[in-house]
Amino acid sequence: MSFVTTKEMLKEAQKGRYAIGAFNANNMEIIQAIIETAEEERAPVILQASQGAIKYAGLDMIVAMVKVMAEKVKIPVALHLDHGTDYYQNIKCLRAGFTSLMYDGSKLPFDENVKMTKKVVEMAHACDIPVEAELGQIGKMGDSDEPGVALEKVKESMAVPEEAAKFVELTGIDFLAAAVGTIHGCRTPFAKLDIPRIEKIRELSGVPLVLHGASGADDQEIRKGISAGICKINIDTRIRMEFSQKMRQVIKANPQEIDPRKILGPAKEAAKEIIRDRIKVFGCKGKA
Ligand code: G3H
Ligand code: ZN
Repeated sequence: MSFVTTKEMLKEAQKGRYAIGAFNANNMEIIQAIIETAEEERAPVILQASQGAIKYAGLDMIVAMVKVMAEKVKIPVALHLDHGTDYYQNIKCLRAGFTSLMYDGSKLPFDENVKMTKKVVEMAHACDIPVEAELGQIGKMGDSDEPGVALEKVKESMAVPEEAAKFVELTGIDFLAAAVGTIHGCRTPFAKLDIPRIEKIRELSGVPLVLHGASGADDQEIRKGISAGICKINIDTRIRMEFSQKMRQVIKANPQEIDPRKILGPAKEAAKEIIRDRIKVFGCKGKA
């Protein structure tokens, strides 16, 4: 059994200058894909569930599936709440056995974000559970958004280093998701990270930094980000793309197929390959 919190994992990553992959867990096959691949690559791993995934699969079901799988492997496995915009969702996840929380108050005014984040931190730290929070606005690609326009927009909502340091100090958070150039939901990697900004935030805040929307960053950007202070990298879109593309391929090749295992099995294998590839780029292969 190796079900752990993200605290030690990310401290080690910060010391060793690599990043831990935080992969979004939406169903059983994806949870299996994440944990099996991390075990094969000897990489510590974070599975994260969004509020949407919790609504879809059920809170207890997600915790149970991750725990059962974590018991079978030797690598450290953490379960994290991703973008917990709801204070009460954070409480429910803490009670259900999540080993890491995120309060996302990035759409709130600074003072309100501080106030709500602090409440979550006080509650979580009483149970020795670490908390991530967000500053600046990372945003999401719309289906018809032009990459160039999206990149210009993202520049207006990046985290300000001095504010980030103040935010960390006032809230007591363990990790910071700062808006530094990525956008959620990119199907091609066109994001440009603001490396000097990441370095400054890292220097002033001292905490491990989290890169959201990392499906939109190519390998070179990811490596530069890690050198600048990124320790946790969130990937969802690229897994979704590989998983659903393989399902479509299988169904197209075998339109009469009715066995879900024959459709979801290959999709799981496709997800494993993108997870394996990300683990290598993040530098966490062999760190467990
Ligand atoms: O919180 C989740 C991540 O930031 C995932 O971003 O869907 O762009 O990979 P992505
Ligand atoms: Zn995110």
